Amino acid sequence: MAEKEAEQAEKGQAVTISLNREVDVSRGCVFVNGTELTVSNMFTAAILWMDDLELKQGKNYWIQIGTKMLPASIMNIKYRIDIGTGEHIAATKLYKNEIAVCDIVLSSEAVYSKFEDHREMGSFILIDRVTNMTSACGVVEHSLRRSENIVWQKLDITRQARAEKMEQKPVTLWFTGLSGAGKSALANEIEKRLSVSGKYTMLLDGDNIRMGLNKDLGFEPEDRIENIRRIAEVAKLMNDAGLIVLTSFIAPFISDRRQARDIIGADSFIEIYVSTPLEECERRDVKGLYQKAREGKIPNFTGISSPYEVPEEADVIIDTSEHSLQESVDLVLKALEDRM
Ligand code: ADX
Repeated sequence: MAEKEAEQAEKGQAVTISLNREVDVSRGCVFVNGTELTVSNMFTAAILWMDDLELKQGKNYWIQIGTKMLPASIMNIKYRIDIGTGEHIAATKLYKNEIAVCDIVLSSEAVYSKFEDHREMGSFILIDRVTNMTSACGVVEHSLRRSENIVWQKLDITRQARAEKMEQKPVTLWFTGLSGAGKSALANEIEKRLSVSGKYTMLLDGDNIRMGLNKDLGFEPEDRIENIRRIAEVAKLMNDAGLIVLTSFIAPFISDRRQARDIIGADSFIEIYVSTPLEECERRDVKGLYQKAREGKIPNFTGISSPYEVPEEADVIIDTSEHSLQESVDLVLKALEDRM
């Protein structure tokens, strides 16, 4: 302390610590002596929901836990607790002032503790990634063992090796916009151009994926969140395989697109907002769905009875009612070239 060696220090004192060997430490690292702290990315917690917006299963938040702030999502609400009777009630959503026990997954490992063992390392807050509101506070009940028993397997053939063999940089072109905005037509045309120029590609398209991998999902907000999470994971795997991926989904929520960017990696993620206005999409009504939605025959229809949150950080914005297909293709290819 103050350049003199000391045997003891108290909470609040400024100290310099010299380690007896070289360790990579930085802000937010935790020193432990004689205490068991957990290092993992999944735990069960009790939370108090404080946001006016309801909690949706699967939605991505910032979590401030222990010494770290990182992305996290509520995988599963196990049950809500009735404050009057203590009864456990099944729930998929949570409203303001409700208490629930749920499983939370972090985007990477963090150091924490059970709340009963350590109050500071065992409590956290969840922050909405769009409004920056504190949405919930919570305490860790226990770590989920399944996360502790899974170990990342290192493979010899890397993403880079696969990409080099294909002589290309794997990226994901993430198209978002209303139904009928022209995402699929544009993505299809771009894939053809890339393919002709010798690139290896894969196009993941909303309706098609919903007939296979995601046939268990509907159009409730929780389902759309899971839809986008799975697509992002698949796109990442295909990027790992060396492919240039094009995805064409409405992906109506900002927080889900941010999560997709986190999963895929900001370096490999190019967001293309197909901004064709609702009136034009509705006028085209290629699939006849807008008419059905107006007649009340399709619940939660994006743009009509379910919101579309306009991207704030799109790399390219294209209104297909103002540009021809060829112009739009060129705009996207230009953005792709800039990133290569
Ligand atoms: S997302 O919102 O979860 O990203 P996704 O892109 O997979 O949606 O699927 C959208 C397609 O499903 C639309 O193009 C349309 O053909 C069809 N669809 C069926 N019901 C709905 C609905 N309620 N809202 C939007 N699209 C719907």
